Amino acid sequence: MDLRHALRSTPAVRDFLPLPVEESTIRRVLDTARFAPSGGNRQGWHVIDVRDPARRRGIRDAYVDAWVAYLAHLRAGVTPFSPLLTHEERAAVATHHAEARASIGSDDFPARLDAAPALLVVCARLGSLAATDQDLDRYHFIGGASIYPFVWSILLAAREEGLGGVMTTVAVAREPALRAILHLPEGVAAAAVVALGYPQHETTRLRRREVDDFATRDAFDGPPLGR
Ligand SMILES: Cc1cc2nc3c(=O)[nH]c(=O)nc-3n(C[C@H](O)[C@H](O)[C@H](O)COP(=O)(O)O)c2cc1C
Repeated sequence: MDLRHALRSTPAVRDFLPLPVEESTIRRVLDTARFAPSGGNRQGWHVIDVRDPARRRGIRDAYVDAWVAYLAHLRAGVTPFSPLLTHEERAAVATHHAEARASIGSDDFPARLDAAPALLVVCARLGSLAATDQDLDRYHFIGGASIYPFVWSILLAAREEGLGGVMTTVAVAREPALRAILHLPEGVAAAAVVALGYPQHETTRLRRREVDDFATRDAFDGPPLGR
């Protein structure tokens, strides 16, 4: 597949055909994704291909629990899990939990996560991350930049195999549960849960901001880039 086309049209896929995804296919996907970049080329990722039904249900339950919090944020009118939420906004979110929980249907993606044909948990070895912003007096996010290009490469490599999927992070909010289910050792964090399978639907056009909306010349408040 043409690279430009792949970059412009790879969606989040959450509905899969009832077809298995073999371990050998996942292996091929990872054998391509492993060429992703990482800070200092430390490659601090570890992938768990979760096949065991009980473990899958445990991951689903952690996901659903965190998804309730996600929906509660939406009901409170704030960006879910934004690190810039105020104390008051967080308090407002808490008041929406019960109704958010009641709104989740058995057909919703979170409730059927355990039925995804393939379920990968991507972990990060924290000791291998180049977290260059760790001493800054703001929210830290650079460490993840050594892992998420790899996760995106998994999705692109999966597409080349005819698979679709979605990178999810909401369950990481319940990392202690994931740690117990998957035996994550100390110093290893959950980074993403990736669902993969053969897509049920055709790709639709992706909705994204235009370049004029996010790129400027010389300074953040500079003029838009020329065409
Ligand atoms: C860092 C990251 C975290 C995400 N977490 C979740 C998640 O927890 N659950 C989910 O359903 N989708 C998750 N997504 C998928 C996004 O919702 C999706 O990429 C976005 O809505 C664009 O969808 P589209 O490509 O189909 O237009 C995540 C994506 C990224 C990049």
